[in-house]
Amino acid sequence: MAASASCISLVVLVALATVASAQLSPTFYDTSCPRALATIKSGVMAAVSSDPRMGASLLRLHFHDCFVQGCDASVLLSGMEQNALPNNGSLRGFGVIDSIKTQIEAICAQTVSCADILTVAARDSVVALGGPSWTVPLGRRDSIDANEAAANSDLPGPTSSRSDLELAFSNKGLLTVDMVALSGAHTIGQAQCGTFKDRIYNETNIDTTFATSLRANCPRSGGDGSLANLDTTTANTFDNAYYTNLMSQKGLLHSDQVLFNNDTTDNTVRNFASNPAAFSSAFTTAMIKMGNIAPKTGTQGQIRLSCSRVNS
Ligand code: HEM
Repeated sequence: MAASASCISLVVLVALATVASAQLSPTFYDTSCPRALATIKSGVMAAVSSDPRMGASLLRLHFHDCFVQGCDASVLLSGMEQNALPNNGSLRGFGVIDSIKTQIEAICAQTVSCADILTVAARDSVVALGGPSWTVPLGRRDSIDANEAAANSDLPGPTSSRSDLELAFSNKGLLTVDMVALSGAHTIGQAQCGTFKDRIYNETNIDTTFATSLRANCPRSGGDGSLANLDTTTANTFDNAYYTNLMSQKGLLHSDQVLFNNDTTDNTVRNFASNPAAFSSAFTTAMIKMGNIAPKTGTQGQIRLSCSRVNS
């Protein structure tokens, strides 16, 4: 009896989750704003060509949006989530999204959500840096609030263990293989010394030459804001080098190297390192899943006029 009741509630839960993302559709703006996608793409291309790191920053912004009350642009609201520990002094790209939004408002007033702009911008960023493309389901609406406490609790940190990471991702309905594939986003962008200092001075599963070269710009004491590339080989190219780095103990963050440390995810890392197509396919699948976390649809939330504040 109890088993069949929980079975029914599982079916209901799965059905609800499917309904929520089934309301998203790649053609959502085809009639209401046919130029939306091209406008986002050209805004991202321009931003990335003047600052290649911006592609990484926009991709990360989307991740930090989706993991906190779903992909609803809550991270874009001034203050609040932006003050949370994983975000403060570290997230970038708000200005790029604001300026794309201004251009889109000029062609289609109050039609395209900030949450969708950010989701598409993340995809276009990956493409701009040479990575795979995918079709983005659309129709998300924007939140009218944000949650700083949830940003602190739900976003995994750089000192996470492999099981911490698995838990953080499974809490969002993502599998371990999704987690390993999405971590491949660290094939682009940079991290601040404070996030990897402990690793380069105190850990043993790190290539010695790699650790030594990082220490030059990340002293034992101070310098916490100095930057290092997350991918030591091809920092501005979206490729699978992240995984070959892990196999030679050149993961920058503790939370990177735990994916290849004589443990259950080693084989997935080996597969993505030796087979770029397998990585691209797993990454795009996982990006679509992450983009579908708890979207607001229908009459929920609002379409913001400006991404950094709720409508008055
Ligand atoms: C697996 C758990 C993850 C942890 C613990 C983690 C942690 C971090 C940390 C600490 C930084 C450096 C921030 C700074 O120093 O300012 C960073 C940067 C970055 N993360 Fe992650 N991350 C994770 C997963 C992801 C995912 C899923 C994505 C996207 C799909 C992502 C995309 C990025 C990108 C692109 C950067 C570079 C951003 C830039 O240069 O502006 N990360 N991450």
